[in-house]
Amino acid sequence: MARLRLRHLLVTGGAGFIGSAFVRERLRADPEIRLSVLDKLTYAGSEENLGEARNDQGDICDRGLVDRLASEADAIVNFAAESHVDRSLLDPGAFVQTDVYGTYVLLEAARKHRHQRYLQVSTDEVYGHVKEGRSREEDRLVPRSPYSATKVGGDMLVGAYHASFGLPTLITRGANTYGPFQFPEKIIPLFITNALQNLALPIYGDGSAVRDYIYVDDHVSAIARVLWKAEPGSIYNIGLGSEISGVQVADTVLRLCGKPASLKTFVKDRPGHDYRYALDVRRLRPLGWEPTVKFEDGMRVTVDWYRNNEVWWRRRKAPEFWEFYRRNYRGLPETAIPSS
Ligand code: NAD
Ligand code: TYD
Repeated sequence: MARLRLRHLLVTGGAGFIGSAFVRERLRADPEIRLSVLDKLTYAGSEENLGEARNDQGDICDRGLVDRLASEADAIVNFAAESHVDRSLLDPGAFVQTDVYGTYVLLEAARKHRHQRYLQVSTDEVYGHVKEGRSREEDRLVPRSPYSATKVGGDMLVGAYHASFGLPTLITRGANTYGPFQFPEKIIPLFITNALQNLALPIYGDGSAVRDYIYVDDHVSAIARVLWKAEPGSIYNIGLGSEISGVQVADTVLRLCGKPASLKTFVKDRPGHDYRYALDVRRLRPLGWEPTVKFEDGMRVTVDWYRNNEVWWRRRKAPEFWEFYRRNYRGLPETAIPSS
């Protein structure tokens, strides 16, 4: 394969958790590269996450804006999405709009401007609940939440643009990711910040559902590998192959934060809860990628980051957050929610 020369990337959703880690990593790794970030700055995105990089605030569904930015770039890496399962159960419409229609707008722009690559950042959730074995990239997609269904919609469009128009597309399907700058709604940052606030850690059902947690720097280095090394049209799972339960996450957080086990609070299960995600990651290995961060080490760094960046996360745990929290965790006692 001829060596790929990507000099200008349009990074959509680059002000969110994983996108901003990708931007920071790329600027460190390759000072020559030009990065344009397009992010709507929803509740989940913030320019604070970006460091040196500049963001064009805007929506990936805005065809004119996307066309203008894409005309200057030679590849798109799309992180933009509504990304939280629980919010998708409360308000699926925003997910259909961004995760499906937004993907279509980006694909059209990549096609029109003859981009060298279009990389869609997808998720292991597209495989649905995996009772046994491990998901391979060609497995049937059986999404069960509005979030995962709209991510499947995006993946399907990407596949169609490759098959029908020859667009040089790539898809990565990453495992549950954690680390600094993650909005405190996903289990790990929610549990860490709740523990630091001496608030209940709400565990769905019996807390036995498992995920394969990957540290954010490992996830973005794998995305970069795929972008530069993979054959167009291919799909790559990204994960460690571990299985960690909700109770294990809670116990790890409480131990690292020095808080009592009594904060563990079992709450009504999430509707349609996927009890197991498990990826087969063998395809990725020949690209020369290996994870570098073990769960225990990544958790220690992450807990320290939240301890040292209280202003960052307290700003996100604002009144609108607690409004979502009340709607989502019905039945939690009022003492589990701050009064202010
Ligand atoms: P995030 O919610 O932290 O960030 C998403 C970003 O997209 C935010 O900055 C938001 O402002 C932006 N955005 C949302 N709608 C937009 C729109 N219409 N136009 C432009 N920008 C918009 O999410 P994340 O955890 O960083 O996830 C990034 C991507 O990785 C998503 O596509 C997600 O599906 C995927 N993913 C996430 C995980 C995980 O565990 N967090 C795991 C695997 C894959
Ligand atoms: P989450 O971080 O929402 O990611 P996913 O999109 O994979 O569901 O949840 C991870 C796991 O943690 C999942 O099994 C649900 C569970 N969970 C809780 O038990 N309590 C919570 O408050 C949250 C947010 C998640």
